[in-house]
Amino acid sequence: MNPEPQPEPAVEYVRLDVQDRIATVTIDRQEKLNALNPDVIRELGEAFDDLRDREDVGAVVLTGAGEKSFVAGADIGVLAEMDSLTGVEVSRQGQEVFRAIETFPRPVIAAVGGFALGGGCELAMCCHLRVASDNAVFGLPEVGLGIIPGYGGTIRLARLVGLGRALELTLTGMKIDAAAAERMGLVNRVTTREELPEAARKLAGKIARNGPVALQKALEAIYHGIDTSTAEAMNFESSLFGLLASTDDMREGMTAFLEKRRPEFRGS
Ligand code: COA
Repeated sequence: MNPEPQPEPAVEYVRLDVQDRIATVTIDRQEKLNALNPDVIRELGEAFDDLRDREDVGAVVLTGAGEKSFVAGADIGVLAEMDSLTGVEVSRQGQEVFRAIETFPRPVIAAVGGFALGGGCELAMCCHLRVASDNAVFGLPEVGLGIIPGYGGTIRLARLVGLGRALELTLTGMKIDAAAAERMGLVNRVTTREELPEAARKLAGKIARNGPVALQKALEAIYHGIDTSTAEAMNFESSLFGLLASTDDMREGMTAFLEKRRPEFRGS
């Protein structure tokens, strides 16, 4: 008699941990340097979905497990099998999850401790800020594989570092170290590998002390602003500025300043 078919065990490549209002999302597929296969991408999307409505989370740190790699790119084994239709699907699936991170209503900080290549560099770029360890390596090597970056890298890199540098990095596929990435504005700060988790958490903590609604609206205003005309962006900024005047957080922030104490924001 054949045994009953057992359900496939759930693959778990992404861990979620919340402490002191800081969520840490960790990609853990160390045997492949945390390369992004469809399961990793799906689980990453699920982790951010789970976090979206959690009011006990003020900021998120996104990182890779192990000492060597943040994410070494999309899984080349999977990419090697794609045809035109699945290629579009692969790109769209990644773009959708990365966009959900970029539009996440609380600040997301990438803690990059090692390789951030291809999809890994693109993942770091869809986060709002990047802290890197001094052993980090960034690059978009896709053209060397006969493809282009497909998770938003052709758009976000130029916005972060300017057209000239984005063209150079994309067309050569060259790798750069953390110091060079910091000089060109691709990362916000560099630390040692040992201190990276704490440095990222510290930055997240500093941000999460501020008014949650104000943080969300600041993100919306900035990302809307880079996608639209100056006049339209100014209108949008004024609307959000006015909207914040109706929040308890604004009253609390200003009262706390006048009373010379730290504000206690409630996110409303
Ligand atoms: N996709 C699939 N597997 C990957 C991978 C990727 N993007 N990056 C690394 N791996 C795998 C390797 O194949 C190897 O697997 P194996 O042990 O089963 O052979 C394992 O991860 C360790 O990588 P390895 O190459 O042995 O480590 P290394 O220290 O010598 O080199 C890199 C590290 C990052 C320089 C190298 O792995 C590399 O160039 N990776 C691809 C980077 C890339 O082009 N990314 C963009 C993809 S679009």
